Amino acid sequence: SSYETLLVEQRGAVTLITLNRPKALNALNSQVLSELLDVMRAFDADPSQGCAVLTGSEKAFAAGADIKEMQAQGFADMYGHDFFAGWDAFTRTRKPIIAAVSGYALGGGCEVAMMCDFILAADTAKFGQPEIKLGVSPGMGGSQRLTRAVGKAKAMEMCLTGRMMDAAEAERAGLVSRILPAAELVEEAVQTAATIAAMPPLAVKANKEMVNVAFETTLAQGVQFERRLFHALFGTEDQKEGMTAFVEKRPGNWTGR
Ligand code: HXC
Repeated sequence: SSYETLLVEQRGAVTLITLNRPKALNALNSQVLSELLDVMRAFDADPSQGCAVLTGSEKAFAAGADIKEMQAQGFADMYGHDFFAGWDAFTRTRKPIIAAVSGYALGGGCEVAMMCDFILAADTAKFGQPEIKLGVSPGMGGSQRLTRAVGKAKAMEMCLTGRMMDAAEAERAGLVSRILPAAELVEEAVQTAATIAAMPPLAVKANKEMVNVAFETTLAQGVQFERRLFHALFGTEDQKEGMTAFVEKRPGNWTGR
């Protein structure tokens, strides 16, 4: 697998994807999107892989969508081609993706981090939606996902002023699950991903799916969705194995069936 804008590495059952356009602070252009979708398709289809980590450089997870690519575009180009719609496919990945964010996660960078299933942040991480300074707005879900993640007050202030949140504020606000020393970020993210990849695969998909449903539905419907999927897991071999292993005080041995 040779990509121009990504480094892809399998570490056991973990796919580590590193955004690699250092000269543009990992700005997300069409090539990054198409290469990333390619990687995610292969990852989702590969039974040897259980969880992915998406990271950038120490300085920047990603400093946004590529401004130089968008600069000359007009309404007909953007609307006509539904620019950014391709990212929806990224969010349809069924296995979990952890964003490991060091340095800048701005604009589209912040939005892609939020498309992942959770964010681990280095103490150097900075999150922002500065698009307003360019005369535009978030365009890859930021106004929606940031608002759901941190609430209206912070999301509105960040979108209207372009102010960045540091890692501590992002953790307090619930945007990130944990803060790690920058030097340990990627290793710790890979470890966390390995923990997930060692879980029963059908249960992993089900847990991801039901947490995501919380953002799409009412409480009553979400609780029912959860319960039905929970019932369905009792049709799996791994449920029998997991509960038997617990009773026999031994680790489970998963088949993914
Ligand atoms: C294209 C970018 C870029 C971007 C940085 N670069 N961000 N190129 N698109 N989003 C390029 C710079 O042009 C420069 O290239 C090189 O990366 C290094 O950046 P510097 O600005 O020199 O670095 P520094 O001074 O350290 O400042 C870092 C920074 C700043 C604060 C992150 O780069 C910055 O503000 N970037 C833009 C952040 C932003 O507005 N993001 C939102 C994008 S819009 P050269 O060739 O000059 O060396 C977006 C929209 C989504 O995401 C949806 C709606 C449009």
